Amino acid sequence: MKVAIQVPATMANLGCGFDCLGLALPIYNTVIVEETVMPGTGVEINIIDEKNQEKVANIPTDKNNIVYKAIELLYSYIGQAPDEMKITIKTQIPVARGLGSSASVIVGGLMAANELLQKPADTAVLLSIATEIEGHPDNITPAIVGGVTLSSWEEDGSVVYRKLPWHDDWKITVCIPDYELATEISRSVLPKEVSIKDAAYNLRKSAMFVEALHTHDGELLKMALKDKLHQPYRTKLVPGLSQIMENLRHTQGVLGCFLSGAGPAIGVISCGANIGEIKEIVSNTWGDINVNTQFYSLPLDCDGAKRIL
Ligand code: HSE
Repeated sequence: MKVAIQVPATMANLGCGFDCLGLALPIYNTVIVEETVMPGTGVEINIIDEKNQEKVANIPTDKNNIVYKAIELLYSYIGQAPDEMKITIKTQIPVARGLGSSASVIVGGLMAANELLQKPADTAVLLSIATEIEGHPDNITPAIVGGVTLSSWEEDGSVVYRKLPWHDDWKITVCIPDYELATEISRSVLPKEVSIKDAAYNLRKSAMFVEALHTHDGELLKMALKDKLHQPYRTKLVPGLSQIMENLRHTQGVLGCFLSGAGPAIGVISCGANIGEIKEIVSNTWGDINVNTQFYSLPLDCDGAKRIL
């Protein structure tokens, strides 16, 4: 049996919603799992960059691969262990840029295993196992269900989530710099504790964010796209971030921008703006410090991960 699962890229945090807000984008990784019939062939893992059709180096292709680990966990959920299999990961999502590449392959591996095992796990179980592996649900939930999501990882390990409405006139420009930033490094610069003042700041901004989406209120969204819990600490890892935010602050139609997940990609939300102008400001600001930028202007992926084979 052969199964292919296509999983979207995701942007997490969205400014104020550290570890709880996220959205899915139509850039995809595909995880293909094939049960091989020849006994003793072991596990074969190939990772291919879809853009240039080249094999991706520097990612484990043995049982330490995160996709294999996800598959193993789903098998162990029903008391089994995976056997011989061939795993192919086709990637479109840039690695270590804050676009949920690890969440996508975890979800792809879990869902492929779930299909091979005749679906013992429902969405709630998949969310819970995937979040356990990833450590936070904000990329995992939109990767599985699509759209814009609010998620909470509860004390019992379950993930409670809701999809939030989005409006087609709010455009997302994804700005991806030409360097990588590992999530562990980006999390290591965060303080263990924050002041009640900063916590209260993000609390009211996140409440505003949710209300803005429900009422299609661009002015409220503009006020909500702020953060004091993670972005201020991460600016030192993303040179140019504060300058880009400042330079876009007065650009016609820009509602706000945010560090995508742990960075270094940046998301810009706009309504009726000149997208070319946004791209020019970002590429000039990063260009001044010799960083090249790749852009995507994309709608949301509303459906999340799906089986395509
Ligand atoms: N919420 C996470 C973080 C997303 O900001 O570290 C990164 O995967």
